[in-house]
Amino acid sequence: MTMQPWFADAKLGIFLHWGVYAVDGVAESWSFYGGDVPYDRYMAQLDRFTATDYDPDAWARLFARSGARYTVLTAKHHDGVALWDTRHSDLNVAERTPAGRDLLAPYTEAMRRQGLKVGLYFSHLDWSHPDYASLRHEDPTRPWMTDNPYTMPPQGQEDPERWERFLAFHRGQLSELVTGYEPDLLWFDGQWERTERQWRMRELREELLALKGDMILNGRMHGHGDYTTPEQGVPITPPDGPWELCYTLNNNWGHNPQDRDHKPVSLLVRTFAETIGGGGNLLLGVGPTAEGAITPEQASRLEGLGAWIRRNKDAVYGTVAGLPLGHHYGPSTLSKDRRTLYLHCVDGLRDFVAVRGLVNQVKRVTALATGEVLAHRTLGGFKEVPGVLLIEPPAETDRYVTVLAVELDGEAELYRGGGCG
Ligand code: GLC
Repeated sequence: MTMQPWFADAKLGIFLHWGVYAVDGVAESWSFYGGDVPYDRYMAQLDRFTATDYDPDAWARLFARSGARYTVLTAKHHDGVALWDTRHSDLNVAERTPAGRDLLAPYTEAMRRQGLKVGLYFSHLDWSHPDYASLRHEDPTRPWMTDNPYTMPPQGQEDPERWERFLAFHRGQLSELVTGYEPDLLWFDGQWERTERQWRMRELREELLALKGDMILNGRMHGHGDYTTPEQGVPITPPDGPWELCYTLNNNWGHNPQDRDHKPVSLLVRTFAETIGGGGNLLLGVGPTAEGAITPEQASRLEGLGAWIRRNKDAVYGTVAGLPLGHHYGPSTLSKDRRTLYLHCVDGLRDFVAVRGLVNQVKRVTALATGEVLAHRTLGGFKEVPGVLLIEPPAETDRYVTVLAVELDGEAELYRGGGCG
């Protein structure tokens, strides 16, 4: 599978969960599925979803300032409420909410005006569609779904014809999205309730790429997507192949005014460095209000991350994964030509910054944000075992993560052997 090159270069995306759940600030879809909120009360939020403050150009400017290069918006979450005027169901914001219009076209246009790539989130499963709960798929790792009426019919009551109707609906909505909005990325979710064969995922991939060949498809397609999507924690060992960490700013995907647990900018910067250091992208969650506003708590964190990225942009854009952990006690990135190593110093700088197992000679070391040239020397080593590179810390350090640029005499070469003797 060939991956569109913009993805690996983008590094940061914004993940918008915007839907009727923002009205009462309840969990997106899961609140009725799990029984916390009755279905009717959940759907009564439709009557108060106004989008009166929706200004996608302001969103796009904020996201561009955050350093993001792409955004993903929930076109349809598991609750089945579409943010566009789909002709396949009246469960959409144009027909059923006071917002009364398609919300996707203004979003895609505004993002593109800021040069951002456009992603659309789409839930395969649909807990509101009358034909969805028509087949069974037991998954011992997800016992809660086995007898949930939103997911599947009672034992012995499968109805393959209804499932065929559901698949036609699923394909119909997806082709509306692809032909109507021409997304650069489709971000799927909710694949776990059916098998690859029940969804016919391989065929789905072909159908979608026949409509638009340069689209990226995320991995929630039972092996037929382009990249993996770890969630909420940076994997200690980076996954193989392209990947993207999706990560909430507080503890919720959607707007939840009770949730004050916003991650500080220091943690966001650190998480971002760890993610790109492992070769991944960070997809940062933002939950706009039912009116369409982004809260100051969320906006200020995007601004803080963006300011750090601007100070250190050479260590971000156009880089690839850095050294495997252990060579340097922190994340690192490498320029694409692998001749400049960027050390992201996430913890305090004391006597010196050390790098082990680096075979190359070092030409020059600077503090990336200020350009200050830093003294360095290599001590120790024996035969093929390289000595330890020791770098003097800069006079001025970053309040979050200080980046040191190490210019090498050639492409980075690492010693990972067991030593002599
Ligand atoms: C989790 C949540 C879902 C959310 C998704 C984003 O799977 O259950 O609601 O949309 O994460 O990755």
